[in-house]
Amino acid sequence: MGITLTERLRTIANMVDEGCRLADIGTDHGFIPIYLLTLGKIRYAVASDVHIGPLDKARENTLKYGVGENMRLCRADGMEGLGQDEVDTAVIAGMGGELICRILERAPKSVKTLVLQPMTDLEDVRKKVHKIGFTLVQEKIAREDNKFYIVMKARRGACPYWSEQDYLISPLLLKDEQFGAYMDLKISQASHALEQLEGSGREEVIKHFETIKTCYEERRKQWKQCRM
Ligand SMILES: C[S@@+](CC[C@H](N)C(=O)[O-])C[C@H]1O[C@@H](n2cnc3c(N)ncnc32)[C@H](O)[C@@H]1O
Repeated sequence: MGITLTERLRTIANMVDEGCRLADIGTDHGFIPIYLLTLGKIRYAVASDVHIGPLDKARENTLKYGVGENMRLCRADGMEGLGQDEVDTAVIAGMGGELICRILERAPKSVKTLVLQPMTDLEDVRKKVHKIGFTLVQEKIAREDNKFYIVMKARRGACPYWSEQDYLISPLLLKDEQFGAYMDLKISQASHALEQLEGSGREEVIKHFETIKTCYEERRKQWKQCRM
């Protein structure tokens, strides 16, 4: 019996290119590489994690689904445990954006494609991706238990100019069906923050939230126009 992935994990797995050699960094349960190997979508995988507990879990699942032959388990910080030309694609999912940015700084040259799903600091992750010589090519929204997760795909290569607004809310998301609902949530979160800040005198913070709220509203309008 194959693995059934949650919507978030399935969105990540679907963005991985067919036939690639994949590293799943911070693999935990190992579900992404195991799922892709059982489908025959990828040739080889490294499931890497900094902690031993998750690797034990991944090992158990590897045996359960019979994909041990094409998957190497690796205990390492970030991408440190990867061989020089072992993989061409890296997935880094379910971690904070700050940690993902740190891990990305040490990406080996052989990695040509990234699939990232940061839990926080999306703006910083987008900036880091471009700074280290990749360009964002696709972003998708996964909705699971009424939460929104953004999955990003990037390839090595020079990137076009992106404004601050683009880094905050990626133009690549305008193609996503769920973008309107995602923006509604972001606008209501910004409005709530502004309500809380009313009368606080924290002008800088208030200005920050007003700016991002305007940005969300503009992007939402753009998304609606794209669909007319
Ligand atoms: C919340 S889990 C996410 C698991 C899986 N990637 C997912 O999206 O469902 C985060 C995993 O990252 C691992 N991790 C944390 N810091 C790491 C690092 N510096 N290098 C590699 N793995 C790390 C943790 O041990 C944990 O298994």
